[in-house]
Amino acid sequence: LLKHIPAVSRSSQQELSSWNLSITRGVKVAVVGAAGGIGQPLSLLLKLNPLITELSLHDKSDTKGIAADLSHICTASTVRAFNGDTELVCALESASIVVVPAGMPRKPGMDRSELLDVNANVASTVARAVSNVCPSALLAFITNPVNAIVPIVAEVLKQEDAYDPKRLFGVTTLDVVRAKTFIGALLNVDPDTVRVPVIGGHAGQTILPLLSQCEPELRLDADKKAELVSRIQEAGTEVVKAKAGKGSATLSMAYSASRFVNSLLRAINNEEDIIECAYVQSTLSEAEFFASPVLLGPAGIKKNLELPPLDEDEEERLDSLIVQLNKEITDGVKLVAC
Ligand code: LMR
Repeated sequence: LLKHIPAVSRSSQQELSSWNLSITRGVKVAVVGAAGGIGQPLSLLLKLNPLITELSLHDKSDTKGIAADLSHICTASTVRAFNGDTELVCALESASIVVVPAGMPRKPGMDRSELLDVNANVASTVARAVSNVCPSALLAFITNPVNAIVPIVAEVLKQEDAYDPKRLFGVTTLDVVRAKTFIGALLNVDPDTVRVPVIGGHAGQTILPLLSQCEPELRLDADKKAELVSRIQEAGTEVVKAKAGKGSATLSMAYSASRFVNSLLRAINNEEDIIECAYVQSTLSEAEFFASPVLLGPAGIKKNLELPPLDEDEEERLDSLIVQLNKEITDGVKLVAC
């Protein structure tokens, strides 16, 4: 197109290059599971994101109305709707990011791991479709149990010869968001100014907030510290109990996932120093998949950052969480082998 444009003035050239810049910055994001409790608010938040040019909504059904509704919001992105297995391929076509909240939520009394059988199928179907349609997309899974779902997706992608560990993420941002919130309240500071890495996994004791690394510094006695760690680890269950059978966290999860997707978008746009905690393939611990701070770039993970020094209590917690995490990873991988 540009070849056919005759000589242009300097200011038109500037206009053209900024036009061009805004075009190259645009990306298509596909939400798989867009009609669900997380999917709907997540789609709304993504519709508000100026870095997205096309938002593709997929679910078993009901996305047409959601897309019609969202499409009336006066932001620049277009919204398209796709329903059912037959339209999954179209939903994913040329997506740069695929974010997946699809799957069943847990009910009171259930552990996330009890969702494994039912949600593994959903995740595997998405992984297969991604491997055929948009193998170079960044893939962010919210589907629980994240600790097992991400290794399952990795296995499926390997089978399809489409696995790039740098592009596959389990979204653990909500653990960081919760840690920031609870610490902010304790310190009486704006929660979003709190910086605290959360490592390990995304279930109970596998969630390890590194309070020793907290900024601003957190001075608590051992009991209060243990109480805070436990609140962060059990925060998902707190919401499940409060919803009393009507599902698990949806709004805070949508907010967190949208924050994570925004970081992926900024990294795609070559912004420097974008760091997020996420559950990824890793050599930092004895578990093959592990949540830790990663430096993001246009092609996904640029660098898996070294773990900061842990205090004695955190070291102990890390040792025991690895046992649980490895069991959950093995349970997931076994399912793919069957
Ligand atoms: C959460 O942490 O809120 C989610 O993983 C949902 C759940 O089941 O707790």
